[in-house]
Amino acid sequence: MSVIPNNFLWGGAAAANQYEGGYNEGGKGLSVADCFTAGEKNRRREYTDGVIEGKYYPSHIATDFYHNYKEDIKLFAGMGYKCFRTSIAWSRIFPEGDEAERNEEGLQFYDDVFDELLKYGIEPVITITHYEVPYGLVKKYGSFKSRKTIDCFVRYSEVIFKRYKDKVKYWMTFNEINTMAHDPAQQTGIRILEGENRKQVIYQAAHNMLVASAKAVKLGHEINPDFKIGCMICMPMFYPETCKPDDQIAAMQANDEVYFFSDVQCRGYYSAKAKRMFVKEELHIEMAEEDEQILREGSVDYIGFSYYMSGVSTSREVETVQGNMMKMVKNPYLVESEWGWGIDPVGFRFCLNCLYDRYQLPLFCVENGFGAHDELTSDGKVHDPYRIDYYRQHIEEMKKAMDIDGVDIIGFTAWGCIDLISAGSGEMKKRYGMIHVDRDNEGNGNLKRTIKDSYYWYKKVIATNGEDL
Ligand code: BG6
Repeated sequence: MSVIPNNFLWGGAAAANQYEGGYNEGGKGLSVADCFTAGEKNRRREYTDGVIEGKYYPSHIATDFYHNYKEDIKLFAGMGYKCFRTSIAWSRIFPEGDEAERNEEGLQFYDDVFDELLKYGIEPVITITHYEVPYGLVKKYGSFKSRKTIDCFVRYSEVIFKRYKDKVKYWMTFNEINTMAHDPAQQTGIRILEGENRKQVIYQAAHNMLVASAKAVKLGHEINPDFKIGCMICMPMFYPETCKPDDQIAAMQANDEVYFFSDVQCRGYYSAKAKRMFVKEELHIEMAEEDEQILREGSVDYIGFSYYMSGVSTSREVETVQGNMMKMVKNPYLVESEWGWGIDPVGFRFCLNCLYDRYQLPLFCVENGFGAHDELTSDGKVHDPYRIDYYRQHIEEMKKAMDIDGVDIIGFTAWGCIDLISAGSGEMKKRYGMIHVDRDNEGNGNLKRTIKDSYYWYKKVIATNGEDL
């Protein structure tokens, strides 16, 4: 008998800001992601104040799910998806983030998308916001620097929970909430102004986001008690560079930056360590009287997380490299992707164990995947054996975590199941998809969809419930 239960949620994952496009159509307002230009592996994306003429913003069209959703969902169904994870673009529902009226055209778009998914028996798994706070809220309130944005988020959540309560059961509040500690601009559009204390700004906004998340969880459960609402964290577990005790502490501290967020969302309160950090760093986090209770009442039902790579931490002074959203020491035992991300399937099992041991909540791997250059051959094929290898090894380790370690995992969604733009670099050429999209780094291409070899492989994996890898 397979170790994977029959109701396991196999599927794919994407996000509005990297896939949907239609950035100014159907009444949509500007989001933070719409103000990020394209970068490259070693050139950061620029975060501009609004959209500046003459600059190229890859999210504006992205790979155009907005106009192709029927064709794309049919392709997902062809792989046998049980679920599809994406996000709702907040500024499609509230263009500025805080208006009195919701945008009906935006709501209707997601009704159409969810109906199309449900037609094929595909369960929508929805992130409430994935790096796409309405830019209006950045201009007015500095995004989550202000508690006003908590109210806007809760109102937006209420609107979508009520509207889709019979279509969507699985939700997550903030994508990779812990990346706040590393990149507050990309996460929620926060700019640290001259003279501001970076840590103070980050952790005040983080507190506001945690309160917003807890309020949404509580409200969601009231609207539909069957809802399953998760957090979503970016999970590169950090190994110590050596068995030197100081390296162990360095790794522990790197992991604590992740746990800072997941502890609150899973347990409903700040850890003693987090509270000490506020004191030691002299951070003065404004909390309302009711916040403790809100956090307690709004803990999550499951842990959504992304896993691409592991990290290494050391007590030495040493140059770090950019991994997924955070910096880390190079791991000499791992082969790297072209973007320098260490490939570590065993680390995936380790990660699953760390999370499950700590919280005993069901886990949902909502992002795992391999970014690579793909070549469309003249006979219209894409051979991507490296991607198949990556997935095969990671799914094998996931099965060990279930079978040997007893970890409760409810689903697995392959990131960027169709080519989309990279969040980190804004590139198109860093492709994750099992479906190729004809578009390049400069925005050229006819957006034609072509099935890659990995598509057929994943179809077989799903059909055999993970038996035939
Ligand atoms: C995760 C994000 O951090 O990693 C995704 O949730 C992102 O939005 C993915 O696309 C892969 O990162 P990148 O930078 O290769 O797109």
